[in-house]
Formats: sequence, structure tokens, C-alpha cells
Amino acid sequence: MSTILFTHIRQLVNTREDSPLLKGAALANLPCIQEAFLLVEDGVIAEYGAMHDLELLVPQLPREVADAAGSMVLPAWCDSHTHLVFARSREEEFVCKLKGMSYAEIAAQGGGILHSAGVLNDYTEDTLFTLAWARLQELSALGTGAIEIKSGYGLTVDGELKMLRVIKRLKERSNLQIRATFLGAHAYPERYKDDHAAYLDLIIHEMLPIIGREKLADYIDVFCEEGFFSPEEMEIVCTAGMQYGLRPKLHVNQLNSIGGIRSGLRMNALSLDHLETLTENDIADLSFAAAQPGAPVCTLLPTAAFFLRMPYQPARALIDAGTAIALASDFNPGSSPSGNMNFVVSLSCIGMKLLPEEAINAATLNGAHAMGAGDLVGSITVGKKANLIFTRPVPSLAWLPYAFGTNCISRVMINGEWVSR
Ligand code: NIG
Ligand code: FE
Repeated sequence: MSTILFTHIRQLVNTREDSPLLKGAALANLPCIQEAFLLVEDGVIAEYGAMHDLELLVPQLPREVADAAGSMVLPAWCDSHTHLVFARSREEEFVCKLKGMSYAEIAAQGGGILHSAGVLNDYTEDTLFTLAWARLQELSALGTGAIEIKSGYGLTVDGELKMLRVIKRLKERSNLQIRATFLGAHAYPERYKDDHAAYLDLIIHEMLPIIGREKLADYIDVFCEEGFFSPEEMEIVCTAGMQYGLRPKLHVNQLNSIGGIRSGLRMNALSLDHLETLTENDIADLSFAAAQPGAPVCTLLPTAAFFLRMPYQPARALIDAGTAIALASDFNPGSSPSGNMNFVVSLSCIGMKLLPEEAINAATLNGAHAMGAGDLVGSITVGKKANLIFTRPVPSLAWLPYAFGTNCISRVMINGEWVSR
């Protein structure tokens, strides 16, 4: 058995006996212990508490004791919405946008998602795996300990399966908690532009049966947006996916409010993601749903709004409406070419006026819930994975989002193992 005791932690952050989904005002409550210890056994949090209770709680000290003096210790980030598997970056599009083209214009010219799909179909599974593995290593060194990864850049039977197999290999090889989401309904491929029914058929009759049989996905997603999938089309895809046990986690209300939220609520989505564009009715619907059992998590992606120069998601209104919000990176080559959750947390404070405590809860415990891993990660709780961020000596918790762009992380532990730097 491998055991390590950390002593003299300056502040142990997000310590909880249980792991509720944090709705409304509860998001601001971030329980912490000053001058703390933390015991890790076989990759799992075995005990924690205040230093003055150490003798009582850990009567026999293990052989390995590490003084964490000066460090704060946080649960590692839970990034519940990413497109980590992709073939190549799209910085040439970025330059087109700098010259004035809009995201929708680029998509209409066969750029955007369709461009990524074209390239991905030419890459081998091994190459995609190697690229995704390197990105995962980089993100874990930045403190991400759990991550949801979507398909959606294949848009062919082979391409979608190839992406999901890459994610499966990442799951098998990595220490991180990984969840796979099938996003075959990310965009209509050119040849189905005028025959949506045929593409929906392909998803339902050719992709989903294999995905179900080989257990290649945990969730199903649809990009519900003007020019992409309507709420009705989203319901057709999700209803089929649910027959294979795939619960919806959905892209809704990024650019337009077209009814995706009502559809998502009707289908008991685990999370409703993006939400840059919300009407008063949308917020009222989310507020009503928040009071019911099994309420969805509203996953906000501030770096996508930042990169696309869109108004930020109305986080304060969503909190006031009693919803549970999570923060995620949306890491993808088109609208958020960074998976750095430290920046996501910072930006949520700077751009959406979250308090540091709210942002940390939203990027840890609520993020874990948004990927169905709330019982395994997201807080300092006995029995959860030892997925931990050790900070450099920093003056306060608020300094983490305040000092944006500064690397505040000294070391990261995932599943009880140090991430190499
Ligand atoms: O979440 N909105 C849809 N999908 C991605 C963007 C994908 C792309 O441009 O490649 C997103 O923002
Ligand atoms: Fe996305």
C-alpha cells in the first residue's frame, strides 16, 4: 500500500463530507481548512483535517510525510466539456476572423467544423491518439484531473468511431477520469446539407448501434443551433441515443435561442452547455427545472465567448435563478484553442463576475457532476480520487483568478501519482 501524508497545508480547499450539486447561492460556499493535513492512500483521499487534529485522526504516521508549507491544495479541475481529439489547429481561420469574417461566415464556406472533419478523416487513429495524448499531458500539468471529450470531427461512420476509439484508448492509458460523448450531430456534412433525414439515419442506424455495442460513449451531444441541428432534430438524435443508455449533454443557445433549452429539459439532459444567448423565458425555464430533482447543470464556457468576442454567459442571472453552474474549457481548434482551466476560472471572475469561491466550486465539484463523476472527484472528500493541485506560495485564494496568466501551480497529483512536468 502506498501512503503519503501532507502536513502544514496552508489552506485545504473544498473539503466536504458529501458532494451535493451546488445550486444558486450554495455555489458561494467553499469550505476550507487552514493549516491542514491530507492523507493519501493508494491514490485515494483517506483522511484530512486541521493540523491540531492530526494525532487524533492519524494516530500512526506513515513512512512518507511531506511538508506542504506555503502550498494551498485544491481538488484538480474537472473540465466537463472539451473537443480534445482533433487533427490540426485552425489558426488561419483565426486570422480570417481578425480580418473581419464571422464564425457563421467561415462555417458557411466549408471552414469551421467541416474543415476539421475533412482533415480528421485523413488521419490515422494512432496519429490522433498521439496528438490527443500530448494535449492531455499538457492539461494535466495545468491541473485538470477529469475531462469529458467529445467526438464530432468525424461526421462519417469511420471518422466518428475512430474518434471514440481514440477516447477509449485515452481512458485506458490515462490516470485522469475521462468521459466520452458522441457528437455525431455536430454539423451536417456537405453531402447531407439538403438531406438532413439521411444524415440522421446514418447516425441512428449506422453509428449508434456500433457505439452502443462497443460501449464507446457515455453521453450523447448535439449542436443545436441555426444552420446546424434544430431542436426537433436534436430530439430525434437524443431519443435514439438514450436507447443505448447515452444521456444527453447538449450544445444549446451559443449563438441563438431556438428552443434547445426546452428540448434539453424535456429529455432530462445531464448538462446544457454554452448558454451565451439566453432569453428571459429560457432563464425562467432553467430556474423552474433547477428546483426539480435531477436538474441539469448549466455549463458555461467563458473562453469560447472570449475567443469569439461574444457577450459572456449571464452567470449571475443563472445563479440568482437558482441553477447549478459549472465551468469548462470547450477546448477545440475553432472557438476555444486552449484547455487551460486556470484561465477559465480567471476569466469567469473577470468576465462574468463570479466570486473566486464560486468559480472554484463551478470548476471542481459542479464540473464533476456535469460529467457524472461527482462521487469520484471534484472535492476533498474521503474516498475520492487523490486528484490534487498544489499551489506555489500565493497570498490568498482570490489571488488565483486575480493573477491571470501567472502559473500558480507547483505540482499536480492525479490518482495519487505526480504529473511529470
Ligand atoms: O463548442 N459550437 C460547436 N462546437 C464547438 C466549436 C467547434 C469548432 O469550431 O470546431 C464549440 O464551440
Ligand atoms: Fe463545444
